[in-house]
Amino acid sequence: QTVEWDPEDAGKGGYDHYMLKEIHEQPAALRQTLRGRADPATGDIHLEDFPAGAFEDVDRVQFVACGTSYHAGLVGAQFLSDGGVPAQAFLASEYATAQPPVDEETLVIGVTQSGETADTLSALRRANASGARTLAVTNVVGSTAARECDDALFIRAGPEIGVAATKTFSSQVVSLALLGERIVRDVTGGRTDDARERLQALSDLPGHVQQILDYTSARRVAENYRDSEAYFFIGRGAVRPVALEGALKFKEISYEHAEGFAAGELKHGPLALVTPETPVFAVFTGRNDEKTLGNVKEAEARGAPVVAVASDGQESVHQYADEVLTIPDTHPDVAGVLANVQLQLLSYHAADLLDRAIDKPRNLAKSVTVE
Ligand code: G6P
Repeated sequence: QTVEWDPEDAGKGGYDHYMLKEIHEQPAALRQTLRGRADPATGDIHLEDFPAGAFEDVDRVQFVACGTSYHAGLVGAQFLSDGGVPAQAFLASEYATAQPPVDEETLVIGVTQSGETADTLSALRRANASGARTLAVTNVVGSTAARECDDALFIRAGPEIGVAATKTFSSQVVSLALLGERIVRDVTGGRTDDARERLQALSDLPGHVQQILDYTSARRVAENYRDSEAYFFIGRGAVRPVALEGALKFKEISYEHAEGFAAGELKHGPLALVTPETPVFAVFTGRNDEKTLGNVKEAEARGAPVVAVASDGQESVHQYADEVLTIPDTHPDVAGVLANVQLQLLSYHAADLLDRAIDKPRNLAKSVTVE
């Protein structure tokens, strides 16, 4: 007697979708990303090909990337700027037409899960031709980006099948935090002020993500707002990219209208769209929260329900939000990774309730190899 089985389902390891499986793989993926690379006790960082001094000739950094990887690049740029190294993130498709000035002291970092995205490869080639040093931050050993760039840092997240990137975003952000710390030390000659605390928070991430997976109320929140007209996501500073990523994920897999904004920009236009039918998801980190709370009040005054993503300790946030997706308390620079996991789960459940083709959304591809 034979048992019928579908190889596709077997690969999902008991989950309904690869996306949910990959969301749940994040604690393990992050452990792999971090393994041997960070020592919170001493504050030391060990990045294979990049010993101390590897970046001492660099005087500015440009990130080029697309989609979710671009959002990781935005986080990376913010981290470097905060540490005193001039850095900017560019959409790769734009970089190819309007390239900013580069020279041999410019490090151009291509952030690309697959290492095969045509827009990103084209931007990297352009940077290389202009004399910049190039570095690929990628998940795929042997990918075109890894082979063509001067250097590569592998995020070690393991294979990702779902078209919507989840675990690879988390591993990219952690890799960029470690790489960023290395670059800051080489360029400025000092450590970032709270390097040990940040490394500790990074090392705590696998356990913290597991707590979210065990206790999330994302499905209930998705159910509560399933008939909304549109979904808005706001965050400032380190979590503006998380708001953008939250909206991208939501629209990709639910096909519902979702937009992400810098929290402070809400009042400069998007507020015209805010009604009782448009829930606003606001991301808090423990830094600059009062200002974001002010933006939340602007939305509430127009009748919008507000869902905060925040830790338990943020009492004033709890006071104003209709619902809270809770994240463990951590360093403000690292909180975004945790908030993003809650938003991944929110998008997943919203799409699942609508019975969407979650692993293969219409019109999208895992890796886009045309410009
Ligand atoms: C495609 C995928 C996105 C991804 C983007 C960049 O558009 O649908 O999920 O973020 O490519 O991919 P990369 O492999 O360069 O990170």
